[in-house]
Amino acid sequence: MSSELFHVIEPRAFNRELLDELCDITDRARAMAKERDGAIALQQLLADKRAMLYFTQASTRTFLSFNNACHILGMGTSEIRDPAISSEIKGESFDDSIRTFSSYVDVIVMRTPERGLAGRAAALMDRIPRRVPIINAGSGPDQHPTQALLDIYTLEHSFIGRGGIDGKTIGMMGDLRRGRTVRSLCQLMKNYHDVKLVFISPPSFAMRNDIKKQLAQHKIDFTETQTLDDVLSDLDALYVTRMQSEWDVDGESLKINLGEFSIGPAEMQLLREDAVVMHPLPRGPEIDPAVDDDSRAVYWRQERNGMWMRVALLIKIFGVEAQLAS
Ligand code: NCD
Repeated sequence: MSSELFHVIEPRAFNRELLDELCDITDRARAMAKERDGAIALQQLLADKRAMLYFTQASTRTFLSFNNACHILGMGTSEIRDPAISSEIKGESFDDSIRTFSSYVDVIVMRTPERGLAGRAAALMDRIPRRVPIINAGSGPDQHPTQALLDIYTLEHSFIGRGGIDGKTIGMMGDLRRGRTVRSLCQLMKNYHDVKLVFISPPSFAMRNDIKKQLAQHKIDFTETQTLDDVLSDLDALYVTRMQSEWDVDGESLKINLGEFSIGPAEMQLLREDAVVMHPLPRGPEIDPAVDDDSRAVYWRQERNGMWMRVALLIKIFGVEAQLAS
């Protein structure tokens, strides 16, 4: 049995044992939910708990999947999606707002445009008597640990019967500089053996040095290229990301020839038969919708996996995994 889980702030805190356990809990919860009796039993698991969804940055999938994960487990939910309608507009500090949420609920899931706020909320919780777990659902361009967890689950399932993630070559393409999903996923790679990473991006959107330094420290092999076609046939997975143009200062993402960092039917022909294409979504033009019908395109499955991995995360945080059917 692995250690307890409380706050979820940075992917770095996850070890292999915990990752494997979360994947197993995801599978078990999912299997239970297939039958009506199992689904009802799941709804009892956390029926005494409530969650606050504090999402002050745009979100469709992460918000809806957390919201529905809570409901699958019988949890009540409250939400703030616009700071303009919370007391922050009256000048209430962030710390006081978070402390207020914690008075009413048992867990706070938060997404903010600012980096570091989830960590700050967790540090605040550790100082006050009513300490509730904080889950980082995206902290600016910095981290998105729960996305990385569902990506790990999707990768592991894609390579079932082929030894899982260990030994695989994973390409990451697009806006690697500002894409928090790929940053977080890179941080989990230290838990797998002999993984090779291939970064495919324009030089101005290359992976930042902080992540490259961590990869080097953990002796994770990575290479960088601007030419997708040169590496496509080496890949077991291609993780595509969109240009994070909302962070543009002077329209820098518009200067990129996105066609070079996109995938369509022609690129799919170069991809191996057993490889998969992932994307955290939402997508822009970087994946041609014609790719959706290819069985190697797993991004819609990945999206659905997100809800079930978040179910598993809540089960683990509240320590009720022993009550799942095995
Ligand atoms: C990602 C995000 O918000 O970082 N979306 C998501 O959570 N699935 C990816 C993105 O916005 O590009």
